[in-house]
Amino acid sequence: MNVLAGKKLLLGVTGGIAAYKSVELVRLLRKSAAEVQVVLTGAASQFVTPMTLQAVSGRPVRQDLFDPAHEAAMGHIELARWADLVLVAPASASFMARLANGFADNLLSTLCLATAAPIVLAPAMNQQMWQNAATRDNASLLVRRGVELWGPASGDQACGEVGPGRMLEPEALLSQLCSRFTQGPLAGVRVLLTAGPTREPLDPVRFIGNRSSGKMGFALARAFTGAGARVELIAGPVTLDTPAGVERVDVETAGEMEQAVMARVKGCDIFVGCAAVADYRPDAVADQKIKKNSDRMEIRLVRNADILAGVAALPDAPFTVGFAAETQDPEEYAEKKRIAKRVNMIAANLVGARQGGFERDENALTLIWDGGREQLPMTDKVSLAEKLVSLIAEHYENRHSA
Ligand code: PMT
Repeated sequence: MNVLAGKKLLLGVTGGIAAYKSVELVRLLRKSAAEVQVVLTGAASQFVTPMTLQAVSGRPVRQDLFDPAHEAAMGHIELARWADLVLVAPASASFMARLANGFADNLLSTLCLATAAPIVLAPAMNQQMWQNAATRDNASLLVRRGVELWGPASGDQACGEVGPGRMLEPEALLSQLCSRFTQGPLAGVRVLLTAGPTREPLDPVRFIGNRSSGKMGFALARAFTGAGARVELIAGPVTLDTPAGVERVDVETAGEMEQAVMARVKGCDIFVGCAAVADYRPDAVADQKIKKNSDRMEIRLVRNADILAGVAALPDAPFTVGFAAETQDPEEYAEKKRIAKRVNMIAANLVGARQGGFERDENALTLIWDGGREQLPMTDKVSLAEKLVSLIAEHYENRHSA
């Protein structure tokens, strides 16, 4: 069952260009079977209409502190008590200042004062405004009082500037919400995971690839979410749906996968390399389709960076788990890779035409760590992933309690 099913989420939307993203956020939350009550500030209604949010949330949007229809029953109190969690996304600099100073001058700020539910802000503003001393002070004060800040992210801004202040994407907020409500051995733990194949282009229409379908990695993403982790999934080209609550980034080449991993690995607790990453790529990529002018053709390949070894070698390396796909003696080769790449654990996977591993719905693994191993017999990849995640959780916990 989805962890958000039946959860009562009060979504506050304040004035900022990122308000348009709240429509997608509501859609994702409803898809996860959460109940969503939107509260819109006056400034927010300049960016997104109550009608749109009412249509996607399935509930009338609340806007006014002094609303005769609700105030008889003290609308702000009723909403404050109703919510399991209040999420303000986007949270403008002005709204943060109001909240920090305890203002009760609109419905959203008033119900935030009146609620006992956790309050989460997803800030969104110009980078200079985010870095302004007043906003920094307001943010610190709010955090000290127990308000959670999710984001902001850094990058291109609607105003044309670049820097911190972008609201987290709706998928990322959904993922954090799932993780926030999940009780499990990995509650609150941040997991970064790669899955699927990579494609190394030869020309605009051809590539060197492999048989990975992404099924094993996506099953792991689902199992980690089920264990309470916040999961970011870097996926090669696959045709699978994103598991609920998982934040997904699509890439194509090994180089793109490496960049995506390195951009997100800071602060992550567990890294799992399940992707079948190309070891080599063509030295040159032709601009136009290569013509068949001769009977023989040679392609010069150059080595790709090893993402798994790169992550394990970081100064603040996360707990790192690799896979080893082998067509013979999987445990022996996997153990060599575990030592060479300096990873905490490695899953030996026998692959090949007869053994499977790739593409199929079932798989078998041997999980190897320093001084131990456990065989996980052939079963469907969903159940296998759950077993693997519980073993990883156990070893991750032991490392932290050691
Ligand atoms: O996707 P499916 O169809 O469900 O199939 C699942 C699977 C067989 C792909 C999966 O279970 C698996 O074994 N994944 C690892 C495949 C692989 O590339 O193995 P390897 O032995 O070549 O690489 C060893 C490890 O180094 C892997 O963790 C790999 O992600 C990592 N690596 C490899 C090369 C590289 N340039 N960078 C890396 O990070």
